[in-house]
Amino acid sequence: MTSFVNTIHAKTILIATHNEKKRSEIKEILKDDSWLLLRGPEDFPFVPAVEEDGTTFQENAIKKATTLAKACNTWAMADDSGLEIDALNGRPGVYSCRYAGPHATDEKNIEKVLSELRGVPKERRTARFVCTIALASPDELFFVVEGCCEGFITEGPKGKYGFGYDPIFYVSDYLQTFAELNPAIKNKISHRASALKQFRERIQPLVQRI
Ligand code: IMP
Repeated sequence: MTSFVNTIHAKTILIATHNEKKRSEIKEILKDDSWLLLRGPEDFPFVPAVEEDGTTFQENAIKKATTLAKACNTWAMADDSGLEIDALNGRPGVYSCRYAGPHATDEKNIEKVLSELRGVPKERRTARFVCTIALASPDELFFVVEGCCEGFITEGPKGKYGFGYDPIFYVSDYLQTFAELNPAIKNKISHRASALKQFRERIQPLVQRI
């Protein structure tokens, strides 16, 4: 039987994000797909800044992937992601990164969310992480996929792993926050893992075609 590795070509993909934690999760989740040569912005001589001014994860992911694919003359994937909290009508959503202000730290964003949820009982603290990934070449947008992971917002931060809102995102199946969970488990059940599973299925036939 011909192995998959022999039938597929290698392909360089720029991961269009400056968020190193996000990038390292993407690389870790795709580590067995050695036919994908994943590169960061530091591997390209000029990477323009892209303003994330869309009102949906999809708009932002498409804008980042298409702009950087053109500017760097390579295939580019972009992950736009964030936290949607039901009791806050879906906020922080696309503003997750800068919820407490333009240069907000993870701690400040968490503080703002927790203060807005003060007094809200557990059963109404439902939330989900959403991850939208777009893949583009310099000439076309290939596809957009989306993954999500359901959970609850805790009353206070717990755990030391991960980034962003991980310390306040509680997953019932594991009775732990994302920041308490072993990172290998987060990388199996997360919104990013779910989106990347679809990404892998959609990119394989494209790479085989070239
Ligand atoms: P983006 O770079 O605009 O996609 O910002 C995403 C923001 O959403 C991050 O800065 C985090 O605040 C939050 N976020 C996205 N994914 C995760 C995750 O896996 N864990 C914790 N926070 C996340």
